[in-house]
Amino acid sequence: MKQFLREIPKVELHAHLNGSLNIESIKQLAEELYGEQTKEFAALCKRFIKFEEGAKMNDCFEKFGFVHELTATKRGLQRATELVIRDFAADNVIYVELRTTPKSNEKMSRRDYLQTVIDAIKSASKQYKIMVKLLPSINRGEPLAVAEETVALAVEFAQTEPDLIVGIDFSGNPNLGKFSDFTAVLSLARNNGLQLAVHCGEVDNPREIQEMLKFGMSRCGHGTYLTEADYAQLKEKNIPIECCLTSNVKSGTVANFNDHHFRQLMAADVPRVICTDDCGVFDTTLSDEFHWAMESFGLSRSQCVDLTVEAMKHSFATPQEKRIMQLLITERAK
Ligand code: IMP
Ligand code: ZN
Repeated sequence: MKQFLREIPKVELHAHLNGSLNIESIKQLAEELYGEQTKEFAALCKRFIKFEEGAKMNDCFEKFGFVHELTATKRGLQRATELVIRDFAADNVIYVELRTTPKSNEKMSRRDYLQTVIDAIKSASKQYKIMVKLLPSINRGEPLAVAEETVALAVEFAQTEPDLIVGIDFSGNPNLGKFSDFTAVLSLARNNGLQLAVHCGEVDNPREIQEMLKFGMSRCGHGTYLTEADYAQLKEKNIPIECCLTSNVKSGTVANFNDHHFRQLMAADVPRVICTDDCGVFDTTLSDEFHWAMESFGLSRSQCVDLTVEAMKHSFATPQEKRIMQLLITERAK
């Protein structure tokens, strides 16, 4: 079964760049950047993928800092992006939408950050059999001015790279910041032709969930605390929920795989896709996520293929790219 899941072409719609660098690639990157690794670094790597029983969401967010240190230079960021793409391709992911929050420091502006990721995507797309898109992220825990800069850059880069920059992701620690503070900047992105992928209902915040649903989005990240009425709304509007099983269980917002809302979404036929979120931090792969879905919800092989087709349909790819994906998926499923 695992071999089948690894071999089928897959489509990944919810992957944060810095969260997707797996432990082996972190070690490779550190070695490339700084030479042979110390025992202390090896211990940090072990701690990175270890989750204590009852881990809370805030613990997860602290883990990103470890990778952010390695990607704080152009060279580190460029290599990390290439390694992440390589690793998705190795799992037979034929299409991935990467999201990342442009960061600035003394060595790099947010513009440099985006340009570096774009260059890395272009070079890796030539090397590996995978289509890659980019969604610059707004981190809700950062000031509005940062979000405004990110959207301005995304709109500008989308003019020269319309096939690459296709949307904006709204993410970050859901316990920080207020969605309503960001609606104007998100509207600006939408009015400029960018799609919106919004982390919505990752924690229990009914008021914010209603604000987000009313505002609208192309895809809904997690949707853990949505009600049946919310599901009905998404179904009517054909907005899929990006389900990230391991991420939700390890970050403690869902008790276990069996209790994951993916079960209700399947039963009520609400649009849904299976994604990894942060396959490095959560030590998983897209194949593994399908494996857990099969084990927990009794999915058949053909349902896994159908879910991939569903992901392809909800992707921000061009019609031509969707046709190519459809061919690749059906060819392998024969
Ligand atoms: P980056 O944007 O490439 O640095 O990827 C890591 C960042 O993505 C984190 O620092 C968070 O801001 C965001 N992120 C990753 N996973 C989640 C999640 O499950 N919920 C909300 N934000 C997330
Ligand atoms: Zn996410």
